Amino acid sequence: MDSAFYAMRVTPEGHLVHVGSGTLPANLAQCGLDEELWFDRLDDYEEYNYVWNNQGRCFELPCFGDVNYVESALKVSFPQPAGPLEFGDAANLPVRDLRLRYVSHDILHDAAPGLAPEHGLPTRGPSRATLCVVLKDEQYDFFAKLFYRVSPAQNIIERWVELENCTCMTVTVHRLCFATMNLPPGKWEMTHAAGVWAREFATQRTPLDQGTFVMDNRGLNTGHNHNPFYLINETAAASEKNGTVHFGALAFSGNWSLQFESLFNQTVRVHGGYEAGDLSMPLAPGQKHATPAMILGWSEGGWGQASRHLHDFAREFVLPGAAPQPCRPVLYNSWEATYFDVQVENQIELARKAAAIGVELFCVDDGWFGARRHDRAGLGDWVVSPTAFPKGLKPLIDEVKELGMKFGLWVEPEMVNPDSDLYRAHPDWVLHFPGRPRTEMRQQLILDFGREEVVQFIGDALEKLLRENAIDFFKWDMNRFATEPGSVAGQTIGHRHAAAVYRIMDRLRKNFPHLSIQSCSGGGGRVDLGMLARTDQVWTSDNTDAFDRAIIQDGYSLAYPPRAMECWVTHEKNHQTGRHASLDLRFDVAMRGALGIGSSLNQLGEEELARYQRKIAFYKRIRPVVQEGNLHRLALAAEGGTSIWLSVLRDGSQAVYSSVTITQLQGVFRAPPVLCGLVPEAIYRVLDEHDTELARYHGAQLMTLGLPNDPTKGGFGCTVRSKTLWLVRAD
Ligand code: DGJ
Repeated sequence: MDSAFYAMRVTPEGHLVHVGSGTLPANLAQCGLDEELWFDRLDDYEEYNYVWNNQGRCFELPCFGDVNYVESALKVSFPQPAGPLEFGDAANLPVRDLRLRYVSHDILHDAAPGLAPEHGLPTRGPSRATLCVVLKDEQYDFFAKLFYRVSPAQNIIERWVELENCTCMTVTVHRLCFATMNLPPGKWEMTHAAGVWAREFATQRTPLDQGTFVMDNRGLNTGHNHNPFYLINETAAASEKNGTVHFGALAFSGNWSLQFESLFNQTVRVHGGYEAGDLSMPLAPGQKHATPAMILGWSEGGWGQASRHLHDFAREFVLPGAAPQPCRPVLYNSWEATYFDVQVENQIELARKAAAIGVELFCVDDGWFGARRHDRAGLGDWVVSPTAFPKGLKPLIDEVKELGMKFGLWVEPEMVNPDSDLYRAHPDWVLHFPGRPRTEMRQQLILDFGREEVVQFIGDALEKLLRENAIDFFKWDMNRFATEPGSVAGQTIGHRHAAAVYRIMDRLRKNFPHLSIQSCSGGGGRVDLGMLARTDQVWTSDNTDAFDRAIIQDGYSLAYPPRAMECWVTHEKNHQTGRHASLDLRFDVAMRGALGIGSSLNQLGEEELARYQRKIAFYKRIRPVVQEGNLHRLALAAEGGTSIWLSVLRDGSQAVYSSVTITQLQGVFRAPPVLCGLVPEAIYRVLDEHDTELARYHGAQLMTLGLPNDPTKGGFGCTVRSKTLWLVRAD
């Protein structure tokens, strides 16, 4: 196991500069290295950056001001000079020059970043130590504290910044990053996720040549086009299994930006934080602002190990709930079965069928409330529709509970249809600019969560629903991104909106600790570590086509854990793409995360329902491995047509091998990939969904020769589109 180091120093002028970071052999002493000498001499390595008046220098938090002319992580303006105003100087105000210098540092044991969850639910992991370095402007009483919270087992450091204005004037913040990460000189390339609605999480590799590459989102959600994480390695020097990788992610669901600035001296700086295009945050005298965290980490085992560190980190320190966490339940969602035609009768019929095949959580999607018989009306009116449920939700919920399932409900709390009682009563409650058009998308507008009364109103409405109905699960949707972001919160709405969403979720989870939440934003538009801190699972895409989904899941898994990935088996002919897929393929893809069913069960025959039942039972046997195991991506769908995932329990006692071929090219033969993470001397039984033993192999054999494509016959099973096999230690 590698371990990480992170070194910085204070220069004689008081600058806090980055010296280096990366991985070290686990125990320096055992390698014959003198630890003291190693750390004492680190300073020597920073000098080469001291060129061109500091321009190549790796500041821990580069600021706008001083002699800096490259990108900054923090820009503020002071309306007045720190001393007396000199003749003729007034025209040059405000002072946009920040010169932060080292003051002190300390180790803290209970520090938490801005927007940390306040739902009171613990996480599994132990508390962690945090280094806090205090910086202050040379003249103004303006402070920035830099935090570094360490998670050694995952090689991860969380960084964030807290600003404190101790001057007697209001200081305006124009740009604020949670951290800047400095990489050493080199030729770098970055792996990240790009895409669009229905094609989220497409893996992209981008060279970081001189210049700046930007990923961001301005729509008040996390976004479909980019996701806030990255994996960086020296060009062509990493693979799934090998190579040094520097990775990072933002724990934030509002307007964010990640800028990859590659300088003339071949150093790369990653600035991660608030999107600054529409940011102007006043900090009144005495006011503080703490940013959310940027996660930084290192892997010596390629992209695969980087992902495993991130998965482990999310399970241990991000997802709500102490250890041991039960597996995520098998869910049924009614959306693709009934769309807006939700009626108590059709939902009860679906619930009975769902329970019979082994579903554990039944979720009613859009269409159960207000005048919501289509997407043109009703959003904002969170009262049960008397047309759909003449006697309220109770008869359905009672039935669901009697069938032994939990009950879930779809909500979209941030939105309003203009055709709704809420909008008619409060047309001023939506984001808009006075005298300008209010552009609708899907016939809906966004509530102004900069208004405290709106946040309170929505929180109350959801609490009322939870108090009056035995609801165990909310699917929290957000089906449009923001445009025309006029708000009473002014140019802070880019983060205040997300902060308000977090506050409502935290309030609900605190007052209803049994509640779990799914994050959805028109598919995979709100997946990030900030959202995972108050939800249990996320929707990666509205596209449920198994062929497309395999690619989406490969990309999602770069940063986020399978445990939180909700995946549905839907119809044989897919509703989004019209493509046909076998039941085996649909299940093999959906069994890679938290399994859900979205098919019209009312239209399936007995034989098909029996197949669903058998596969769900199989999934329940393998899910502890799928949801808690270490994931190894052995092949990627976008790179050759087959995606192969191997999940292995930490002790190597069980593994799940999932192979999904989405493009079968004639004449292309693939040797089976070698497996990882098994116990070499152990013997593994290979079981199929019927628990039939197909073969037995030595761990060492599987880790050197791989698992034959068709273990019953040997050789290459070119016609097999997909399979899920369960490997269990025989001894
Ligand atoms: C978009 C979601 O992603 C779908 O699953 C469904 O919930 C619809 N919204 C409902 O309007």
